[in-house]
Amino acid sequence: MSVIDDVKQRLDIVQVVSEYTNLQKSGRSYKALCPFHSEKTPSFFVFPERQSWHCFGACGTGGDIFSFIMKKEGVDFTQALHLLANKAGVSLVALTTPEKQTQNKERERLFEINEAAAEYYHHLLLNTSVGEIARNYVAKRGLSPETIKSFQLGFAPDGWETIKQYLKGKGYEEADLLAAGLLVERDDKNSYDRFRSRLIFPIRNIQGKAIGFGGRALDDSLPKYLNSPQTPVFDKSSSLYGIDHAKIAARQKDQAVIVEGYMDVLTAHQHGYDNVVASMGTSMTDKQLAILKNLTKNLILALDADTAGEEAISRSGEMIDKMLPVPPSFYGWVKYEDAHNAEVKILVLPQNKDPDDIIKEDDSQWQKLIIDAKPMIGFILETVIAKVDLASARDKSLAVEKLLPLLFEMHDPLRQAHYVERLAKLLKIDERILVDTLRRFSIIERKRKTTKNMKAYTPIVPAIISSSPLEQYCLALLLQYPELKAESAGLSPDYFESSENKVLFVKWKQSDDLASLENRLDSALQEYLQSLMSRVFPPTLKESEAIRRETIDDCVLRLQERRLRNLEVEKQELLAIEAETGGTAAQLAKLEEQGLEVSKQLREVFTKQKHRRQLARRDGQ
Ligand code: UTP
Ligand code: MN
Repeated sequence: MSVIDDVKQRLDIVQVVSEYTNLQKSGRSYKALCPFHSEKTPSFFVFPERQSWHCFGACGTGGDIFSFIMKKEGVDFTQALHLLANKAGVSLVALTTPEKQTQNKERERLFEINEAAAEYYHHLLLNTSVGEIARNYVAKRGLSPETIKSFQLGFAPDGWETIKQYLKGKGYEEADLLAAGLLVERDDKNSYDRFRSRLIFPIRNIQGKAIGFGGRALDDSLPKYLNSPQTPVFDKSSSLYGIDHAKIAARQKDQAVIVEGYMDVLTAHQHGYDNVVASMGTSMTDKQLAILKNLTKNLILALDADTAGEEAISRSGEMIDKMLPVPPSFYGWVKYEDAHNAEVKILVLPQNKDPDDIIKEDDSQWQKLIIDAKPMIGFILETVIAKVDLASARDKSLAVEKLLPLLFEMHDPLRQAHYVERLAKLLKIDERILVDTLRRFSIIERKRKTTKNMKAYTPIVPAIISSSPLEQYCLALLLQYPELKAESAGLSPDYFESSENKVLFVKWKQSDDLASLENRLDSALQEYLQSLMSRVFPPTLKESEAIRRETIDDCVLRLQERRLRNLEVEKQELLAIEAETGGTAAQLAKLEEQGLEVSKQLREVFTKQKHRRQLARRDGQ
């Protein structure tokens, strides 16, 4: 049994929901004032038999225990799983392999060592005479005592064994200190402190655990910054400096600002810009984005003019066909915006200034830059076109060639149309020509992608049991035969009642291939994905694409039918309850109206199914 099923079986939705709202028994169900919107008469229902919930009021939605927690706590599926597993007493750790358990123990130990080191470096900065030089430095850089304290800045003095001796004295093994990256090993196996004569910035993850360190030289010596190496708890490319301080503000302001450096983050926070994090000197990665994604979809990237301009027009990097669209990072941003309904803006910094300088100089200038930040795509279009000689046909066609892949990546047709129109105007060409070129490009591109996917994957693990065989069958089919993606257009996430299936379906729709889908999943869902990938289909289906298409069409209709039937049943139950307890006439009328709508849709499904059966019979003759 999968972890997900285990959790489902041990928890009762009535109990879980009753922790959030006052449920009252009403017939075979329970009702309450909806915990998601404010209302005077209860329209929120929990159905214990199906372990589901539904709000018939303003929300008009429902789901299972996972979707309830996701919505209520504002978390994603994985976090909901952790929360519920905790309640259910299911240990997610125990269900992982013994190697994983050992790894987890080691990680805990490294967090602890880092914490002890951060405290000691901080103490050395604040309270010792050797720390004076660093105290002068932070004062010169304008950092306030509060900032120094809340970010726990520290000082590593000029010695070879300061942290080594201190932590060994506290009982830690040298091997663990090496593993934490605090020591460097010499060829003769002797080890010494990695950070010497440096101001220390502890780097923390979103939970606030110390994962690594950055150290700045106090003078012009090189390297200017030295960071912890890759360790089991630190991976620079998946960390964001300041995220532990910025997470609440980013969620509340529904915006995060991404800068490059440690000092930028500190100065920003010190001036009240508390939704700022740093990518630590490199381009943003998928993993860093994944952290921000759960907090806000509105990102502002602060880049210097050169980097921004270069990224928008550069031709270097991976070549796609004969010409690179735009470099992978900006290209990736557009996909990100599209997949997550996000908005990414570019804040172009004035020449030779970083946010630290600007905010210290005049923080109204920083506010203005934030307000003036330009939406990513508009920025790219403008930057590319600024380089084009509009009198030259060749230039225009080069610009189109460069920008097409970007437009192609937009899956939202309205958004795509908007930018096609804008590009046509900017280039002074007929919009219809552009639309046509884009259509041809899309056909070629889709073909290229499907052939690539087909070869990419080999299934492993055996199948597992779960709650909804039809949902699983449908998903397994879609996953194993990517060419069916188009066929599933009529499939709505709402047709999946189990949250794990719904989440997987939504993420699959957002992914180009299995590898990128896998990247979006945590281990519990990866395990689940594997089980779907290794599901074996009958030979007739394996051999015939026509049969696969028919099967998926059939699945989609059956899922739709089931969804509508359930809605119908829920409504009937509700009508009965309301009749008994004396619901108002208006409410009843509204429900009846909705009930009619459901029956109409059901009839449509039946007609389609009948039609399909007739076709099948005719083909068989
Ligand atoms: P910068 O060189 O722009 O430094 O690097 P800065 O943040 O403005 O620092 P100050 O103001 O001179 O003290 C930006 C970021 O890139 C990373 C660090 O995270 C730094 O904050 N970096 C830079 C390194 O990791 N190593 C380096 O050698 C330089
Ligand atoms: Mn700087």
